[in-house]
Amino acid sequence: MDARREIEVLIRAKYPIVYVVSWEERRVEQALQSVSQTLNRKLHSWSVTQGMKPAVVRTTGPANPSQLPGELEALALIHEAPEYSVFLLKDFHVYMRDSRVVRLMRDLAARLRGRTQTLFIVSPSLNLPVELEKDVTVMEFPFPEPPEIEAQIKEAAEAAKDNPKLDLALAPEQLELLVRSAQGLTADEIESALARSLVETKKLSVDQIIEEKKQIVRKSGILQFYPADSGLKDVGGLDLLKDWLETREKSFTDAAREFGIPYPKGVLLLGVQGCGKSLVAKAISATYSLPMLKMDVGRVFGSLVGQSEDNMRKAIRIAESLAPCILWIDELEKGFAGTGGGGISDSGTTARVFSTFLTWMQEKTKPVFIVATANDVSSLPPELLRKGRFDEIFFVDLPSGEERADIFKIHLGKRKRDPQNFNIKTLAKSTDGFSGAEIEQVVVGALNRAFDQGRELLDSDLLDEAKAQVPLSRTMAEDIAALRAWAKVRARPSASPKSGQNR
Ligand SMILES: Nc1ncnc2c1ncn2[C@@H]1O[C@H](COP(=O)(O)OP(=O)(O)OP(=O)(O)O)[C@@H](O)[C@H]1O
Ligand SMILES: [Mg+2]
Repeated sequence: MDARREIEVLIRAKYPIVYVVSWEERRVEQALQSVSQTLNRKLHSWSVTQGMKPAVVRTTGPANPSQLPGELEALALIHEAPEYSVFLLKDFHVYMRDSRVVRLMRDLAARLRGRTQTLFIVSPSLNLPVELEKDVTVMEFPFPEPPEIEAQIKEAAEAAKDNPKLDLALAPEQLELLVRSAQGLTADEIESALARSLVETKKLSVDQIIEEKKQIVRKSGILQFYPADSGLKDVGGLDLLKDWLETREKSFTDAAREFGIPYPKGVLLLGVQGCGKSLVAKAISATYSLPMLKMDVGRVFGSLVGQSEDNMRKAIRIAESLAPCILWIDELEKGFAGTGGGGISDSGTTARVFSTFLTWMQEKTKPVFIVATANDVSSLPPELLRKGRFDEIFFVDLPSGEERADIFKIHLGKRKRDPQNFNIKTLAKSTDGFSGAEIEQVVVGALNRAFDQGRELLDSDLLDEAKAQVPLSRTMAEDIAALRAWAKVRARPSASPKSGQNR
């Protein structure tokens, strides 16, 4: 439903208070103005600097200007305003921390209910005091839609047309690309990006729009662009997982969409520490040639009430605005642990943030491919693992002999050594129970040994180093056994059973 239509429905259905989440005051006000006109309502806008415009003709109460602080006065005015009015309070979320404001708003909600008066609050973030949760309807004001963006781009070109230095010609494909890349930006952001593009490149180019988006990601503090610095060739073993990822690559194309294949949702990688989960996540970005955003779940949780959910929604919005893209959530269990129980100390914040995320996973239509990694399944909420959230759940086990050989080759190669000069088979045999990360450590440790003694790396350095290390799998044998048992029935193996022998 488009925003205007939603506003109209809310006003006609006599909702008392609507909280509009948007950075775009101007667009919200325009939408309210146009709907108010259609419905024969009078729109009054209030801001702390301008007061109420146009002024409200009071039906009751004192005629003299009151001595109340501005925000309370605004609410008092609404209380006494005639029917058929619509109010817009700007930046009002700041005042909603005051208990008097909250009280007055609750009274107001009771009064406005069923009357032809509606109060809108517009704010860039959702910070709703719990007391008001039942009285206030929250509405997300969507970013400009493609036709709106197209009109805006044409307007920008029209406005600049007298400048002979600019190249404003836009082929239909270019225009389409611009419109597509500008989705997820506010009208103001699009305007600045277009203006900057004209100044810097003398034409309307996509680059500035992408730059604008990078800015937004940087400012978010929750997401971060992750460069695709490794590919699947840097991942040893895990043949089934790699095959699966490679076959999925085609599902990202338009041809797949036409064929009726939905966008891939994402994949969950569960498994033993240091066996390449994060490595695979990074490799996916390179394999699919899609930008990757990493979400820092820890940062989602803010200290203010409502802030965490708001952060999550913001992160989702940003990720969607960059679609198609990959959203990597590393160590998922650290963020969402214990949400199953409900009776946890943070009064359900984690659970609410988590449910926002789950709902999005279920309903998202934008091509945001989620790659989540976790190594402690016991604390993961079961809802997450239900079919339909992820396309597949993979279990990443300790590498088998063959896989260890593969990993040795990769890490020797990465450090400018020719694997053929080493007895890889023996090395693989003597590192039973080692994770990929531990094998890497063996290689690095051995290099240090050799360097220290002023000679080239030998097999014996690697073997000595392997002997000196106690793999985590030995100290954590029980945990790993439990994890395997759990994964056996719930997840798909990442490596084929043949290579899985003698784990
Ligand atoms: N299968 C593998 N092939 C090649 N290198 C590997 C493999 N597994 C691990 N490594 C090496 O170990 C490093 C650490 O692995 P990674 O961070 O991917 O483990 P993880 O499964 O995410 O562990 P954790 O659960 O502790 O986050 C990698 O950067 C890589 O150098
Ligand atoms: Mg990891």
